[in-house]
Parts: sequence; C-alpha cells; structure tokens
Amino acid sequence: MKFDAPATTNPIDQLKVVGRPLNRIDGPYKTTGTAPYAYEHHEVPGDIAYGVVVGAGIAKGRIASMDTRAAQAAPGVLAVVTARNAGKLGKGKMNTAKLLGGPQIDHYHQAVALVVAQTFEQARAAAELVQVRYEAARGAFDLSAVKDGAKTPEPNENTGPTETSVGDFEGAYAAAPVQLDVTYTTPDQSHAMMEPHATLAVWNDDGALTVWTANQMIDWGVGDLARTLNMPKDKVRLISPFIGGGFGGKLFVRADAVLAALGARAAKRPVKVALQRPLIANNTTHRPATIQRIRLGAGKDGRLTAVAHESWSGDLPGGGPETAVNQTRLLYAGANRMTGMKLAVLDLPEGNAMRAPGEAPGMMALEVAMDEMAERLGMDPIAFRILNDTQVDPEKPSRPFTQRQLTQCLQQGAERFGWKARQARPGQQRDGRWLVGLGVAAAFRNNLLQTSGARVRLDTKGMLTVDTDMTDIGTGSYTILAQTAAETMGLPLERVTVRLGDSLLPVSCGSGGQWGAANSTAGVYAACMALRKQVAERLGVDAEQAQFVDGQVVAGGRTVPLTQAVADRELVAEDKIEYPKEFSEKAQQSTFGAHFVEVGVDMATCEVRVRRMLAVCAAGRILNPKTARSQVIGAMTMGVGAALMEDLALDKRRGFFVNHDLAAYEVPVHADIPHQEVVFLDETDPMSTPLKAKGVGELGICGVAAAVANAIYNATGVRVRDYPVTLDKLLKHMPMAA
Ligand code: MOS
Repeated sequence: MKFDAPATTNPIDQLKVVGRPLNRIDGPYKTTGTAPYAYEHHEVPGDIAYGVVVGAGIAKGRIASMDTRAAQAAPGVLAVVTARNAGKLGKGKMNTAKLLGGPQIDHYHQAVALVVAQTFEQARAAAELVQVRYEAARGAFDLSAVKDGAKTPEPNENTGPTETSVGDFEGAYAAAPVQLDVTYTTPDQSHAMMEPHATLAVWNDDGALTVWTANQMIDWGVGDLARTLNMPKDKVRLISPFIGGGFGGKLFVRADAVLAALGARAAKRPVKVALQRPLIANNTTHRPATIQRIRLGAGKDGRLTAVAHESWSGDLPGGGPETAVNQTRLLYAGANRMTGMKLAVLDLPEGNAMRAPGEAPGMMALEVAMDEMAERLGMDPIAFRILNDTQVDPEKPSRPFTQRQLTQCLQQGAERFGWKARQARPGQQRDGRWLVGLGVAAAFRNNLLQTSGARVRLDTKGMLTVDTDMTDIGTGSYTILAQTAAETMGLPLERVTVRLGDSLLPVSCGSGGQWGAANSTAGVYAACMALRKQVAERLGVDAEQAQFVDGQVVAGGRTVPLTQAVADRELVAEDKIEYPKEFSEKAQQSTFGAHFVEVGVDMATCEVRVRRMLAVCAAGRILNPKTARSQVIGAMTMGVGAALMEDLALDKRRGFFVNHDLAAYEVPVHADIPHQEVVFLDETDPMSTPLKAKGVGELGICGVAAAVANAIYNATGVRVRDYPVTLDKLLKHMPMAA
C-alpha cells in the first residue's frame, strides 16, 4: 500500500478497539515470569554452554601478547575465542568487525576474548585467567580539550545536513537590540536498560545460525550478523520476542550476539552470552557528550530575528555526530538563522542513538536558552514561545507542518498546571525549607516514516494471526498491532494473535526513533486491507462497499459472518506500507508538546526534589492511551534523570567511563518521581499514516530536562548550564553558601 494521499475516513475510524486504553496483552506473561527473554530461552537441541566476555583494559593501543593457556585448561572450559582464532570478521553496516578487538584496541572494554565453559561460573573463573599484555597509545578522551579541532562531518542519511543557513544570521544578530549568547554542556549518558545485551546462539547441521537475542531492529540485526560472519542473510535467523528495554542501545548487533555465534561454532554447542553489567557502559554504545552554543537575537517586542545553534560532539574514527541542532531548525520562527554540527575524534566507546538522539540533548540547551531570553526580554516564557511559533518550516517557508499544536499544548498546560501562580522573579516562593520553582519547556520530536510490512492469516475458525518482525521493547507493540488488526477486520481483540520479533516474519520498521507505533500499525493495516479484498472476493461482494464489523461482513444489503469466507480454507494476505517521497516530503511531520515541572530546592543543601510534572502532547491519533501514557511517563522520568543525575563519569587520563554499573550510574527511582500527569490533545494527522497516528514515546523526553533546569532557576536564581544539575553546582552560587 502506497500512502500517497491524505488519509480519509477508513475502517480505523470506527474506533471500537483502536484508541481505547486497553491493557497490554503481553502484560500477564511478564508479570508471571513466563515471557522468555533471550537469556532465558532453553528449548534448543544440545546442552547449552556459557560465554563470558573479556574486555580490553586500555582505551587505545594494541595487544602485545595474550596467553589463554591457563583459561583453556581451566575446569569445564570448551573454547576461548579471540581475534587470532575467530577468522576474519566482515564489516557490517555498524562496523561490527570491531566487536571483537585485537591486536588493535579501539576503546576500553572492547571485547578481546570470549571464554566458553559448561557452566557460567566456570566461564567466569576461567575468564580471569586470560593474560593480556597491552601496549597503550595516547588517546583523545576529553571533548572540551579537542573541541577546536572538530570538523564539520559529511552529511549522510542519519545526520541529515550538518550545516544550514538562512538569511544573514551574523548581521541580524549584531543588529538585534536584545541578544543572548550562551553555551551548555550535556554529559555522556548510558542507556541503562534493565535487561543486559544477551544472546543464545545455535548452529544447525546445515550451517545455518539461529540467535535468540535482545534487539530492536530484526532485519538490521540479521543483515549485520550475516555480514560480520560472512554468511548469506538467509542462513541467519534472529528471534527477539521480548526485550527488557532498548533505549537505542539495542538498535544494532553488539558483542554478545557476534561472540555467542563464534563461541557456539568453536564449542560445537549452543552458547549463551549476557554482557556482564560492568562491561555494558564501555563495551556498547552510549549517548555522546555535547557542547552547545546558542545565540538568539530579538527585537524589543520579543520577536526572534536571529537564531543560531552550534553543537560539538565526539566519536571514534568514522563515527557520526550527536544531531543536537535538529529541533532548532524547526521549532521557532526567525528570518536569519544558522545551525551547525562539529565532530571530534575521541577514543571513547562508540557514541550512538539513545532515547531521542538529537532532540533530547538539543532541547536541553535550546529550551533553557528560550527561558533565559524570555527573562532578558521581560516576557513570560510561555508568551515568548507562542509569539515565536510558526506554522511553516522556518528554514523552508513553503513547507507547512502537517499538524502543529505547540501553542495549544503550552496554553492547556499552563491552565492545568496553575502557571499563573509562578513568580517571575526567581527565589520568591518558599515552602518551609524548600525554595519552590516552576519551569516550562516546549517538547519537539520529528515523526519519521519507515516502510513496514506484515502478513495476516484468517483461519477456518475465524481466528486472525498477525505476523511481522516488529519488536516490543516494553512499548506496547503487541497490543496496538492487535488493536489495529481487530479494528480493520471488525473482530474482537480476543480473536487476534500477534507474533513478533522473528526474522522469518515480514520485515517491519522495527523499534527506534519513536517511529515504531505509527509505522508498524500502518503495515498491519495495509495487510488487513489486502485480506479484506480476498474476503470480499470469496463472498462475492464489493470490497470498497463492504463493512467489517462485529465479526460480520455487511455489503449490498447482506450481512454474512466473516467466517463464511474461510469456511473451507484459510486466507492469507501480506502487504507493506510505503511512503512515496513526492507526498511525504510535501509537508513537515513533527510532534509537539509542553512540559511543566515544579521543583523544590533545599535552602541549605541544594538537594532538588521534583514535586509535580505535567506533559501535554499533540502527536496525532493516540492508538492506546494507556500504553502511550506509559511511554510518556517513562520518558518524563528519563528527562528527570538527564536533568539531575545521569552522567557517565569519564576518566580523562585513561579514557573510560568509571561508573559503569547500575550502582554508580544514577537514574531516577520511584522515590525520585512525584505525581506525573499526561494529557494528549485530540488530534489526527491525515498526512502521517492511514491510522492518522504519529510517534509519541520520545516526544515525552524532549524538553523535560530543560523544564527541570528552568524550574530550578525559578526556585533559586541560579542558572546551571552544565548538566546534570547536581547540588554541588548549585551550592557554589547560593547566597547562603558564602
Ligand atoms: Mo531509539 S534511541 O532510536 O531506539
């Protein structure tokens, strides 16, 4: 199905199943412990052996010598895989050959060996016996130290343009009566998902490989695993039905999958590998630190005339930038503007996508700058944002937004949150020992379109099965796909079974970039519409006229049970949703919202407590308000983490993240999170998909940290531009600290 014209009224608009706050259909499996995660899967032929990864002890250099004899001779050991005996690994799209390092070492905790033994304990004990001697080389680890040597990277499909310019920014900025020139920093951050990267690998007699692994993108994973192991793609099967959080860290095949496959080949047994928690922060990808400079120029009336956002980040050679300027190209009006990204080479672990890459850290800077500028103008920060709203792409004014309800989000949120009570002058509101402040930020995240396919089967009993390689990373995919199929076929939810996360199933959009919900449901819709045609043909009715409702097909004055179409044999249909560029690129698709936060800051210790949070989101049709709300409150929680806690502590001499476990890498826990409210504006976007839906999960994080920082400023009068906003940074500037 080509989506090449705005959606009109269609079967989804019945809204008998779609749009309802239904419980997750996979919920009972998870709460009863019967959902098999990759590491828990046992049903394979042969005794499973266990692999433990040895990570490099230097950040850059080479292995001078490695002695595996003691490990090899240790009890229960079946194999020790290293770069010397693994054979040449192919380069996947994600440079997967580097997932097993040696002799060259590219980053700290890069895998240099996998020890496989009969039990996990034996493997772990033997891994300690691997002797590695390194020749360390000098590396670059500190972004601020190498910033001036950073270069503008080549644009590609992931980054988009790396520089943009409209009008005369420098001239307009110099002439602006009110100016702001501020620099913010965001730290390296770790995904910190609950389930570690984990894989069970099994080789079949015919040389085919099956891996049960935690992965967000099945088809990418199959492709990269096949390329890495120099195998045809059709000999690799990847199965990932349940995933305990991904956050971008499981978009790609990582060392667990490649090493489990190599270990299983060497040991001639199925092999399980879970990356040890202390390895994950340095072995896998992370969100890279940024330095962001924002300049705003405005007239005395508060209208922006000049907008500039520059961002610096680092990555390994051949890597890419954090696209932190994305939202600044689209969020506010202003005739003269420029954005640019600069990339430095750093010998740290790979920087890559994490929880709304680009916009999440970008909004941490832009939305504080907007708060600072509003103050300089003597304006309310909501009024300032609304004044500078735009209904067209500010870089390409001929392109409208398909839907843009930023103003409505800000206004409704202000009303609900009691924004009127906010004191414009900071430090004016007290509650006992707490200084209380309110903060606001816009929310913005683009809506990305991806081809997505599915197959549907209506069996002779009238049960419908949906097959797609889509993943459910805790987001609710199973549920919204069942809702979509049930609605389109006019069936109750109980008659629909959804099977996901298996590369034998049709290729979907996968889970990433908040594109999963809208695109995968559109793919299932396309397959169901193809099935409806077959049903209509069997029943001898006109497919265009037929209505599918309550298990019946109503057409031409006749009402026939759907099961009559499959009385003697089942029907199967497969299709995918595709988005021809001539249509999809006519207008800009983005999602909008507003975040409101109330904080208390302890007058003596500067401890920050978030007291209230509200998110108002405008993101097309909300397919399931319960699962969507869960996505947004999770995202708001991550935003609090980004504002107050999350920070990979970098050892700048040795080049590794020191706090590489969940004890030392701090994320919010229940006690840190107060009442959270989420409101979805009534919106359908006919330009997005046949379901008129868009993504919402990552919208929920974008802007939250800035709203927290702005609330802290409102409470204390202290502006911290260096995330996370920890109490030591506040204390220095508090009047009573002197
Ligand atoms: Mo998301 S960070 O693209 O999984």
